[in-house]
Amino acid sequence: MAVSIIILGEYLLMNEKVSVIAIDGPAASGKSTVANLVAKELQIPYINTGNMYRAVTWYFLQNDVKMNGLTNLVVESLLSDFELCYQKNDHGTFVLSVNGRILDFEIRSPEVAEHVAIVATNALVRKKMTELQRYLGGQQLVVMEGRDIGSVVFPNAKYKFFITASPLVRAQRRLNQNGETFSNATLESVAADIATRDKIDSEREIAPLKQTEDAVLIDTSDLSIDKVVEKITSCISM
Ligand code: CDP
Repeated sequence: MAVSIIILGEYLLMNEKVSVIAIDGPAASGKSTVANLVAKELQIPYINTGNMYRAVTWYFLQNDVKMNGLTNLVVESLLSDFELCYQKNDHGTFVLSVNGRILDFEIRSPEVAEHVAIVATNALVRKKMTELQRYLGGQQLVVMEGRDIGSVVFPNAKYKFFITASPLVRAQRRLNQNGETFSNATLESVAADIATRDKIDSEREIAPLKQTEDAVLIDTSDLSIDKVVEKITSCISM
């Protein structure tokens, strides 16, 4: 199974254009909301790859892993008992489970947000997630959202968008999301946390967050959600 995923991934990388709508961008830029709505409108699956890295982070936290001392040996041993599944439920929505446990609000916690960027710098974690993403994207046209979808996972994606917003707008949006920030959070502390995560994501060695030249840049600071969805769907022909 693992081998067939890798072959499929390489096959897709070599081919002309891959049927993926890649939506990348920094933290709290609104890309999840938009990606979800675009997928609904086009009636195709939506895959949030940030949730995959969050699920790994949640699992590491459950196992009391010291995040600053992540050695390959530790990660390898943890991942050998880690099974991440991405399956459609009865309503056609993808649900994520780790070792049979369905994860939802657990992976949106501020503790997970605090550590996820460090976990996402790990080469073994990225390799495993990238393989799964290439496998999922090889099935049919999907909306896939993350940091490196248009740059590394599917450099030949048919459609690429880079969604951003000003740091202040992003901090305000994150603060408005119930349960995703610590109870004593302020606009300043949330802005600082987001800036730290952006820095780690943009400066990491493997698959850093970046806008590719062929991606359509959308600054959502002053745009309504509907307008952003409209901008994206108007570029897509199915
Ligand atoms: O929802 P939010 O914008 O805060 O972030 P997310 O999309 O849930 O992603 C959480 C973290 O996962 C990011 O800060 C990255 O460190 C990592 N990530 C990544 O490295 N590559 C991806 N394709 C998606 C997420």
